[in-house]
Amino acid sequence: MKIFSRIAGMGSFLPANIVTNQDLAHQVETSHEWIVERTGIERRHILTEKETSGSMALEASKQAIENAGISPKDIDMIIVATTTPDMILPSIACLLQQQLGTNLCPAFDLVAACTGFIYGLSIADQYIKTGAAKNILMVAAEAMSRITDWSDRRTCVLFGDGAGAVILQPSEKPGVISTHLHASGYDKELLWVPSALPSQKSDTPPYVQMKGKELFRVAVNRLSEAVDEVLASANINSHEIDWLIPHQANYRIIQAIAKKLDLPMEKVVLTVQDHGNTSAASVPLAMHTAIQDGRVKRGDTLLLEAFGAGLTWGSALVIY
Ligand code: ACO
Repeated sequence: MKIFSRIAGMGSFLPANIVTNQDLAHQVETSHEWIVERTGIERRHILTEKETSGSMALEASKQAIENAGISPKDIDMIIVATTTPDMILPSIACLLQQQLGTNLCPAFDLVAACTGFIYGLSIADQYIKTGAAKNILMVAAEAMSRITDWSDRRTCVLFGDGAGAVILQPSEKPGVISTHLHASGYDKELLWVPSALPSQKSDTPPYVQMKGKELFRVAVNRLSEAVDEVLASANINSHEIDWLIPHQANYRIIQAIAKKLDLPMEKVVLTVQDHGNTSAASVPLAMHTAIQDGRVKRGDTLLLEAFGAGLTWGSALVIY
């Protein structure tokens, strides 16, 4: 009998502190109108000094564990997708293991920037499908505000902080149908953050460096390929998708992909206006928002996609 991995529970966390476009307009030369027109973003959650990717991951994980109706002792693998860990080592996954009180299961972080959740889902799916794990905690947590230059209007208006978590379990019913991962280190200069290692000197400050216009064009092309790939692999057409849950970087990129799929915007989960770009956390945050407000229901077919630094990109077809 074929075994699928199924999302048994979900959780998320957004810092209470909200920064609006109007707030940013007091800090840099920008306006609410410019930001909304170019990106669709209206506000974002930004963590306070005491909060970290790890603290957000912990809250999201506790919710996901409770929602799945399991105990931390049941977890047999922890994967955290993050570009903004609390420390260089140990990983957030190891910190979580101790904070949650799980057994001594494998625990590791992965860096795939904004595509981190799709990468993590894909890895977890392989372990569940082969019977190697029964309860995987997969978290995406990002403190993008910590690697943002708040005096650079080209980037500081784009990002937000947050975390999303899922528990994946084996199931006879689907489940994760397929995942598709890609990367191109050849385009590494389009989006990067220099090393923050104390001994590694860099002429560039340790903040997000981005070639926005080129990135926009590549994002639309790569995401178009990624959604075609996932539909072709499942041999379905886009009208069989209940919800497109895209990476929430820019409304215009999302709109271009919805158009390509011939999906009305009513079938697209949009949180970019409220969350900004939370990197790896953006897809699970959008998904959990739509589950909590009743849009996404059990049995719905979801197309997830993301694109980010690396470059990395990927897609997944999931029956919730
Ligand atoms: N407020 C006002 N003006 C601004 C701002 C701002 N916040 N930022 C830039 N401008 C100005 C620029 O200086 C430029 O002025 P100039 O023509 O006098 O030089 C003008 O606005 C146009 O700037 P562009 O960069 O050409 O604007 P564009 O339409 O490309 O929008 C944006 C910029 C929003 C960054 C867009 O390129 C984009 O979304 N790119 C893709 C980013 C992305 O998708 N990232 C996702 C993958 S990566 C990840 O998620 C981590």
